[in-house]
Amino acid sequence: MDHVLELRDVSYYYKIRRPRRVGAGQARADVLINANCAFRRGYIYALVGPSGTGKTTTLSLLGALEAPKSGQVLYKGMDVWEYGAAKYRRDHIGFVFQEYNLLNYLSAYQNVIAAIEIAKNDVADRKEYAYGLLRDMQLDEALFHKNVGELSGGEQQRAAIARALAANADIILADEPTGNLDDETAIEIIEAFKRVAHESDKCVIMATHSGLVKSHADYVVSVKGQGLHIDNLIY
Ligand SMILES: Nc1ncnc2c1ncn2[C@@H]1O[C@H](COP(=O)(O)OP(=O)(O)OP(=O)(O)O)[C@@H](O)[C@H]1O
Ligand SMILES: [Mg+2]
Repeated sequence: MDHVLELRDVSYYYKIRRPRRVGAGQARADVLINANCAFRRGYIYALVGPSGTGKTTTLSLLGALEAPKSGQVLYKGMDVWEYGAAKYRRDHIGFVFQEYNLLNYLSAYQNVIAAIEIAKNDVADRKEYAYGLLRDMQLDEALFHKNVGELSGGEQQRAAIARALAANADIILADEPTGNLDDETAIEIIEAFKRVAHESDKCVIMATHSGLVKSHADYVVSVKGQGLHIDNLIY
């Protein structure tokens, strides 16, 4: 079966700056070593592992926010850095990252409209399309035109997912999308992601610490021993 996204022999490390007295040069902190993993459309993947094992780093590599030190990130078999990282991000990736999310001085509606415009998503009626996305995320209509800075965490997450979907990208990357939410709201957010994956045929990959989120995913990808391991997936 076709994979939309693949990490092939990917290695990544951070350089750690050390005080001069301690030793010459820079130390390396390896996060991934020759990691391999492939993802399909139509499924939701939970990226799990203890804090500091490399979940956010893996999402950054998948979204071409960082380039691998060696190996390749392939979108439909094409190396994303050869394809063009900016173009790849704009046309194929929806991010639900905490620091890469909503524009706080705009409303939920304006955020979605901005994303439609940035992606040049050619929809017949932008307003109706934006309303539809926000309704699909079950955001209360009374909040559509409120400044997102005034929304609760769960409401902001709904708006952020709607924004991530506005570009109609085929891959959605989310970092701790249910962090700080109560269980009931977390399940609603996961259900929203599930609809996106299953009904709109998107590939949803989310990093999470939550056992609850993990239990709702189609596949669990563990970051283990500097490699990635997919459970329940038959190659
Ligand atoms: N900018 C950076 N410079 C140096 N080291 C970094 C940097 N970002 C992350 N690291 C280190 O790389 C490792 C992986 O970090 P990463 O943020 O990917 O982990 P994570 O699995 O997302 O953790 P968490 O569950 O706490 O979010 C950690 O040891 C972290 O300290
Ligand atoms: Mg993280």
